[in-house]
Amino acid sequence: MLVDEIVDAHVLIIGSGGAGARAAIEASRYGSVALASKTIVGKGGCTTMAEGGFNAVLQDLDSIEVHREDTLSGGAYLNDPALVNVLVHEAPERLRDLVRWGAVFDVTDDREVAQRPFGGQRFPRTCYAGDRTGHEMMMTLLDRLDATDTHLYQEVSVIDLARDENGAVAGAIALDRDGDPILFRADATVLATGGGTQCYDISTNSASGTGDGFAMAYRAGAELIDMEMIQFHPTGAVYPYDARGRLVTEAVRGEGGILLNERRERFMKRYDPDRMELSTRDVVARAIATEVLEGHGTKHGGVYLDVTHLPAERIESRIPVMLEQFLAFGVDIRKEPMEVAPTAHHVMGGLRITPECRTTIPGLFACGEVTGGVHGANRLGGNALADTQVFGKRAGEFAGKSPERSGRVDEAWIEGVFGMLDDFYEGATSPAAVRKDLKLTMWTQAGIFRNSPDLATALTHVRRLADRRLFAASATNLIECCTVRNMCTTASLIVRCALLRPENRGAHVRRDMDVITTNPVKSPFGHTYVSLSREGIEEREVKP
Ligand code: FUM
Repeated sequence: MLVDEIVDAHVLIIGSGGAGARAAIEASRYGSVALASKTIVGKGGCTTMAEGGFNAVLQDLDSIEVHREDTLSGGAYLNDPALVNVLVHEAPERLRDLVRWGAVFDVTDDREVAQRPFGGQRFPRTCYAGDRTGHEMMMTLLDRLDATDTHLYQEVSVIDLARDENGAVAGAIALDRDGDPILFRADATVLATGGGTQCYDISTNSASGTGDGFAMAYRAGAELIDMEMIQFHPTGAVYPYDARGRLVTEAVRGEGGILLNERRERFMKRYDPDRMELSTRDVVARAIATEVLEGHGTKHGGVYLDVTHLPAERIESRIPVMLEQFLAFGVDIRKEPMEVAPTAHHVMGGLRITPECRTTIPGLFACGEVTGGVHGANRLGGNALADTQVFGKRAGEFAGKSPERSGRVDEAWIEGVFGMLDDFYEGATSPAAVRKDLKLTMWTQAGIFRNSPDLATALTHVRRLADRRLFAASATNLIECCTVRNMCTTASLIVRCALLRPENRGAHVRRDMDVITTNPVKSPFGHTYVSLSREGIEEREVKP
């Protein structure tokens, strides 16, 4: 295989969701930018599907300090405090950028950006555009991106990062939609590939959430942290079958929706009587899963989420997408409850980064869901969209300020990638079969409730799946083989880290563990970490 097309740019951005688009806008101020997106820009990725909102302190009654404290306590104090500081201080200005660029957020009677309550926050600080906030943001960002000289490479799937002779990341190799290779060479590369909960059978993620960024960075030698921290959003649709897992926004509860089990009992009073439905997501997801496991679920295996007590007008204006979505399923939520259950939503771990979005390998920056540390062990709803903008801007800026790269792309590495692609033509296993098996394994053995024997079984099985020789019937099939390979790598990182953390913390529950970290401030454990050269868990000195 030969490289037909070589693209040189000062900055290469991989991924076109909220973080990638924001990074490209910023980086374009410093030099040429190439943006590689495996989907049509604006049509894929998770930002555009994000419903509920964007957290930012905008009112005098709220404070940056309270946002910081809510984020840290919601994250069971596993967050990197330096990253949290950046998030909470810069979110208001990044929200204002969007408004300046034309994003239409809902406003109050005084024409101020309106804010709604979201779980685990002591102030209503979630800014929103009905329940299609991410879509509004993406349309605004793309408009702005259009005004820059960024060169978009759409439906171009990056399959591996390129290294130079000095070991720095020097760009990437990609396949276009026909399976033809493109070599990107860049002074700095920004990974903004989003999450990977497509590794689970039931997920809110768009089809592109296959964990490519985690896997490519791992192969390139980067260190990842806290990969065991998978957020299960409490409320995904449970039927019809092909809509399983689809996001039912937290805004439904923020607007006053209540959760009931099959006996019509408002069960959250037994799990978090103070915060009820607006407890943190880890708590609400576990509560729903427990109700279902104990036999108090609905016939479709969920619980009821009820807004019938709210005025119809409020439902129509504040959560119109939910109304429409459930009408399409044959349920009028103004008159009858929705049925919901937890769904894999967000990877809270990811690449270890500095506040400048530098990863542990030179030349590689990262932002958004592919990074770890911002959200700790449990992310607050509304903090992800803020994360994309705050760290997207920073990644673009610091990548843009990078010096010219001195080393040449390592030719041996390119040959290795082509060798791997050629091997797919000789393979025997359908990637679709491996994908399906992997998703079920992760859902049943590395889900909300975990234990060591299940995790060990999952790891053995995922490794076996990763060893299968995948078969590509055509050049276009190569991309699916690469994707499934990445899913196997991401899944194994999740399970390895889950085995490394011997405590219950945030979204990570090990039912076989005696160590229940009731006060996570006093946990002796810090981040789990994993790279090609080491893996483990940080130990912290616990002050009495
Ligand atoms: O429930 C939601 O609308 C999701 C928001 C988020 O994940 O931040």
